Amino acid sequence: MSDLDFGRLLPAPLSVRRGVPFYYQKSEAEIAGDVYERYDALVTRQTALHLADELHGGYPFATLLEYVSTWLPVSKQPLAVADLGCSVGRIAATLAQRYADWDVYGLDLSYQMLRQARDFWTQGVNLQPNLIRFGWGTPALDGYQLENLHFGLSRAEALPFPDASLDVIINTFLIDRLPGPFSAFAEWRRVLKPGGRLITVSPLNFLQPDSWRKAYPPVKILDHLRQAGWRLDDWTDHLPLAEPMDARGNAVNWQCLAFVVER
Ligand SMILES: C[S@@+](CC[C@H](N)C(=O)[O-])C[C@H]1O[C@@H](n2cnc3c(N)ncnc32)[C@H](O)[C@@H]1O
Repeated sequence: MSDLDFGRLLPAPLSVRRGVPFYYQKSEAEIAGDVYERYDALVTRQTALHLADELHGGYPFATLLEYVSTWLPVSKQPLAVADLGCSVGRIAATLAQRYADWDVYGLDLSYQMLRQARDFWTQGVNLQPNLIRFGWGTPALDGYQLENLHFGLSRAEALPFPDASLDVIINTFLIDRLPGPFSAFAEWRRVLKPGGRLITVSPLNFLQPDSWRKAYPPVKILDHLRQAGWRLDDWTDHLPLAEPMDARGNAVNWQCLAFVVER
């Protein structure tokens, strides 16, 4: 894949850094202040969770992937799908592998996540993350060269896609990281085609007091979505997920809200 192939739906970026197109001009100060840019702390942890199944005897978030897979539209036509807050790209890449004629996009705000995601999933770069501090050693992970998968740096609340261009938006463990989840829903409605699906899974572990006030308990999210015109396909509360922390078996137990709505 050429360095200048950003996919059918993405416009020319504002800039490109090591092959990652920037659709938001993230400043050096923002990069320095963003916890998700910390390679050793966050990128390797996401790598252990999403890319190193053999450490755990299977993909720890298989239940999450199954939920997303269950709610993908059945279509004879190729679909355009975006995973927002894709981090190291596992979910987007799994869909790109399963559906070779789909256009799949992984967007995130972290350059470091995207640099690794692009290298590993589209450029065939092998990884050997240092997971020694978790007791997992330095597993060797073989890269891929998926041609229907594109990564880009963007804020999920201001996407580079044209109006009514996507069939599906997926976001997992993202909405509680956003300053304003409800304004993101409005942006996602803009870029979805009529009838397009939004698939969300989140532990609702909000960072901002204002989000707790506006979006908790989850019925407030449901009311908001209904008032904004979304049609409800599924509402699953709770969807439990365990995130492994180390080789001893310590884990974080998440109680997620999972829902699917249509534009
Ligand atoms: C908790 S991680 C979740 C990653 C992955 N989706 C998962 O299910 O494990 C949150 C991700 O969202 C990204 N993120 C945070 N704020 C964002 C924003 N405003 N727009 C896009 N991505 C964002 C972070 O860089 C990080 O990769």
